[in-house]
Amino acid sequence: MLFRIDCRLHMLLIILLALRWFQPLLTEPGMFPGFLHMMREPEKFFPPHVKLLLMSQSDFALPYPGRRAEKKYDFIYSGSDQDVHNDCEGWSSFAKNWTFAKQALEVMCGEYGLTGVLVATKDKQNKKACTIPTSCHGKVLQTQYIPQNEFFDYMRQSRWVFFPQVHDASPRVTTQALMHDLPMLMNWHIAGGWKYLNEKTGEALHA
Ligand SMILES: *[C@@H]1O[C@H](CO)[C@@H](O)[C@H](O)[C@H]1NC(C)=O
Repeated sequence: MLFRIDCRLHMLLIILLALRWFQPLLTEPGMFPGFLHMMREPEKFFPPHVKLLLMSQSDFALPYPGRRAEKKYDFIYSGSDQDVHNDCEGWSSFAKNWTFAKQALEVMCGEYGLTGVLVATKDKQNKKACTIPTSCHGKVLQTQYIPQNEFFDYMRQSRWVFFPQVHDASPRVTTQALMHDLPMLMNWHIAGGWKYLNEKTGEALHA
């Protein structure tokens, strides 16, 4: 129950932010009298008379001159700013589905021998890192919360981007992945950002 409320509040906040962002557009003649949203099934949240537009802030990620780099890692996962002090337990880690990511890592490192980068899973002092499966030791690099240009460097050195998260409203990393021409492995249940996924851009994870 609590979670439901939280999730809706979250979505409302995103919508309000999006509306605020687009206000200059909306006050022009021919403004859009409705809601911008990112949901798969908006009819479950809005009454039928409300006009809807599937549009997110992530749609406006700036194009980027994607320099090529030598690939060093199979996957990259961005944890934004993780709850490292608490071994990745907390709101941020919940939003990035860290518990599931860890289970997936076990398979990715252990069964498939993949290498990867886990961004922002190390604290700002560069000492403590969130625990990862032992099969990932030596295969996976954990970084601090890093500036965007450094993040992009890691993206260019990776082969694909991992999105295990569900409660995330169209993360900008998705369009950043596209702009770097990187395929995505994305949780089918992701709140927003699913619209970028098709047979040309990656695979959905139905877990
Ligand atoms: C994480 O992903 C799994 C697999 O889709 C899902 O069952 C679970 O509810 C998700 N948990 C969170 C906190 O997002």
